[in-house]
Amino acid sequence: MTTVDRPLRIVRTYHPRRGRLSGRHFDALERLAARYTFEIGWNVDVLEIGSGMGEATALMAAADPGRRYLAVEVHTPGVANLLHLIDEAGLGNVRIAAVDAFELLASNIPSGSLAAVHVFFPDPWPKARHHKRRLIVPERVAVLRDRLKPGGILHCATDDAGYAQAMLETLTADQELVNVYDGFAPRPAHRPVTKFEQRALRAGRPSFDVMYEKR
Ligand SMILES: C[S@@+](CC[C@H](N)C(=O)[O-])C[C@H]1O[C@@H](n2cnc3c(N)ncnc32)[C@H](O)[C@@H]1O
Repeated sequence: MTTVDRPLRIVRTYHPRRGRLSGRHFDALERLAARYTFEIGWNVDVLEIGSGMGEATALMAAADPGRRYLAVEVHTPGVANLLHLIDEAGLGNVRIAAVDAFELLASNIPSGSLAAVHVFFPDPWPKARHHKRRLIVPERVAVLRDRLKPGGILHCATDDAGYAQAMLETLTADQELVNVYDGFAPRPAHRPVTKFEQRALRAGRPSFDVMYEKR
């Protein structure tokens, strides 16, 4: 690669992972993907980036039937699991996009359209040379904030204390976002505890929530 090409390299925010699909997941993809895949024209209220296995998405959407949830996740077993959960719970207000969230945001989510963006336990990318891969960095936050309506909420959670502090600093520095709380948010009852969070709690890492409102 020449130095001229280098700026064109895409900085990924996720680890490319291979995962074997279980029979149940394979079946969910085959039967349900067409029905629950996001299509342009389906107006989104709440966007979740990196929905993982989809446990939080399915529970939050079930508790909030008046709003439409779009879960974006690149990990195929996670997509399949959420398809299964949506179908099992009979949820009509959830769609999934199995793409890089920032590709989707670039062309398919209008400016000023979202009531909320959820980013729960994003990969912390702890090494300094990987920080550019984090989801919560100024350039990516600028995109998320642009897609929020005035009064819309950006809600992030992490079990990585260093990333939590960086989130607070990055979001506070954004002139168009206002912290809903003074510092970290109290743990919101409406955010379910996922297996991911349970594992972190067992390992002695508590969660930090941050909630910012677009001006
Ligand atoms: C550490 S997991 C957390 C999953 C889930 N939110 C939870 O709490 O259990 C982070 C997830 O974000 C996904 N992810 C990271 N960057 C993404 C992007 N740009 N677009 C879509 N998904 C992304 C990864 O594939 C991964 O599944």
